[in-house]
Amino acid sequence: MKQALTRVPVTAEIVRRFVAGETRDELVPVVRGLLASGRMISVDFLGENTTDSAQADATVAEYLSLINDLSALASEFPEPVAAAVVEVSVKLSALGQALPGYGPAVATEHLRTLCTKAAESGVWVTVDMEDHTTTDATLAAVRELRAEFPWLGAVVQSYLHRTEADCRALSGAGSRIRLCKGAYREPHTVAYQRASEVTDSYLRCLELLMRGDGYPMVASHDPVAILAGERLAIETGRGADRFEHQMLYGIRPAEQLRLAESGYAMRVYIPYGTQWYGYLTRRLAERPANLGFFLRALVSKS
Ligand code: FDA
Repeated sequence: MKQALTRVPVTAEIVRRFVAGETRDELVPVVRGLLASGRMISVDFLGENTTDSAQADATVAEYLSLINDLSALASEFPEPVAAAVVEVSVKLSALGQALPGYGPAVATEHLRTLCTKAAESGVWVTVDMEDHTTTDATLAAVRELRAEFPWLGAVVQSYLHRTEADCRALSGAGSRIRLCKGAYREPHTVAYQRASEVTDSYLRCLELLMRGDGYPMVASHDPVAILAGERLAIETGRGADRFEHQMLYGIRPAEQLRLAESGYAMRVYIPYGTQWYGYLTRRLAERPANLGFFLRALVSKS
């Protein structure tokens, strides 16, 4: 499957549905289009699980250029599109978290470099959450850097048993938390396995975050989660400037527009880069219909 996927040019329809392109040049028109439509953006330079420190350094260099480009793009858009509507999302495993020896410390220092540049450029940073073996190290890095960069965001995954407790601990003033269901295959010892349990946990976590003092980011395409976010915003008197909806590039674009046009803050997570394989397979695995669509496209191209 991997060989079949990687033999197909990135321009293939299904890849382009989820990935904005392989280069920053290809990314720019996508970002511009989304900002022009009133949606905010978070850009992820694809790559993960590096065990090569030169690769981690190259990822930092790419993010620094990306932050420059995004900051320039944001300035093309007058109010209400302000600098904070531009964000980067970053995986600590792409910054060297898995390097032997001092991996977590190396990744934290790289993240500090990115946050310093982002702060100068009016760009936000949110740290993606990867598999459960990295949760503690990732939250520790965010906690450490929030002393300097209080706007630094973190992601929590409702499929993990621990996440309700994490939400309680992370719902303090100013704390930007992106709540998602979780995209990795996790064992039953740490994660809910049934979709209904994951959704129930999502709703409990969302309630904690929305009733807290932080800045919740409702990252879901699930109508149940979106509706719960809207209901809780009304119940808690949270204005559209104190939480946001988030969705992935290419998924439910009409709903993204509906939310943005209704006055909600709506951010789209946009991945780009050549290392799209891991990201794409998670999106295909989430929805068997995507896989069928992809295989049909593959057969028709061969
Ligand atoms: P659910 O999977 O139940 O989907 C609800 C509906 O959304 C589906 O019925 C379908 O209509 C649509 N949909 C969902 N996925 C689709 C797909 N792939 N293709 C087409 N339609 C689809 N995960 C993680 O582990 N770590 C992270 O850091 C992040 N970061 C992140 C950021 C943002 C902004 C978002 C939106 C999501 C993530 N995720 C993530 C991914 C997340 O954990 C989860 O895997 C997906 O969002 C799918 O879950 P939903 O909540 O959308 O619900």
